[in-house]
Amino acid sequence: MKSFQNSAHLVNKRIKSGSIQHLDIIKQVDGEIYDALSAETVRQQNGIELIPSENYVSQAVLSAIGSVMTNKYSEGYPRKRYYGGNENVDVIEDLAISRAKALFKSDHANVQPYSGSPANLAVYYALLEPGDIVMGLSLPGGGHLTHGWKVNFSARFYESVQYPVDEKTGLIDYDEVWRLAREHKPRLIWAGATAYPRQFDFDKFAEIAREVGAYFAADIAHISGLVATGLHPDPVPVADAVTMTTHKLLRGPRGAMILAKEEHGRKIDRAVFPGLQGGPHDHVTAAIAISLHEAAQPEYREYCEQVIRNARALAAALQERGYEVVSGGTDNHLLLVDLTNKGVPGKMAQRALDRANITLNANMVPGDKRSAFDPSGIRMGTPAMTTRGFKEPEIVQVANWVADVVDNIDDESVIDRVRGEVVEISEQFPLWY
Ligand SMILES: Cc1ncc(COP(=O)(O)O)c(C=O)c1O
Repeated sequence: MKSFQNSAHLVNKRIKSGSIQHLDIIKQVDGEIYDALSAETVRQQNGIELIPSENYVSQAVLSAIGSVMTNKYSEGYPRKRYYGGNENVDVIEDLAISRAKALFKSDHANVQPYSGSPANLAVYYALLEPGDIVMGLSLPGGGHLTHGWKVNFSARFYESVQYPVDEKTGLIDYDEVWRLAREHKPRLIWAGATAYPRQFDFDKFAEIAREVGAYFAADIAHISGLVATGLHPDPVPVADAVTMTTHKLLRGPRGAMILAKEEHGRKIDRAVFPGLQGGPHDHVTAAIAISLHEAAQPEYREYCEQVIRNARALAAALQERGYEVVSGGTDNHLLLVDLTNKGVPGKMAQRALDRANITLNANMVPGDKRSAFDPSGIRMGTPAMTTRGFKEPEIVQVANWVADVVDNIDDESVIDRVRGEVVEISEQFPLWY
């Protein structure tokens, strides 16, 4: 079995042979940053990545992020800029916009938000006044901070009403969403999540919003790829605005997009710039455009199908080992596991798995009695390892490694054995940078 140090040596050999040129260039200028970047390359190479919001971008996307577009300022929008020299930026942003509109069949796309949270902030800024009532899925139910969680701007500058998931089924209780909407008459209703393993009924959310006179926004940060490939119901025809990050299942750079109905397009654009941001990150826009091109290829749909098959196989294998999977399984790329019956808190499991080179995050589960900082469950997803080439047999093996570690949480020898096996399989499914 090859050791971690041997793999570091391998990365060094690859650098010397010129196959990781960007690291080599950094090495000549800044040894400290080089050391951290090369350690991170080794960590990513030698680990199993189960954080559902992470992925590995293509070399083309990575190269665009490191391109000359990082040198440019381009406040404004194509052909309406506040700086000169933007003829090439315009080409790139036009391509990103038209590809986003084509992939998601949307009237309008804005590709400038710096990330997912600023994209959501722009929707508030465009459609609401401070103090308006907003509704979103609660954080313990799987919602995102920006959907009205108490410590976030979305609950401090707006009046937030959170809908929960049913504690027994782990599913959104649409009757309760109806009830809360009729009682509170929100101005905006969010559908979308950061930790929800089942499909959203976007049509029903739109119907509820229509009845109470609210805007309807869908945040598809996690499931954007499934929506783009028809593997999840599509909110675009029924939502006023749809936001997403570009760095999760979509396999693009860290960034975000907002799709909108034509009637809201101008308001959304003005909210992003000049409302909330200055110059867009043009190197990121170039990388978004490339990832949208990649996502439009038939292979990307095959990838997304495998992501779902892998998530289902992961859930089933964990259930066979006596693990409680919230809602009994998954329809998408992620699952939530409640570790209460194992007597192991989520953070403790996360730390032990980290030592076995398996990365995931502790997560709240429906009805969690523990805190968000040290919750009862873990969240796992398959986008990254599916990109690496894992199929059902490898994912079932991962489930068994996770169960081995958590079942023997105090036994460092089990962690050592699993880490060795993880490094071995990682070398059979190498990273390409
Ligand atoms: C559903 C959802 N919306 C928004 C965001 C925020 O994205 P960012 O971390 O890029 O601000 C996330 C991030 O995980 C998310 O899961």
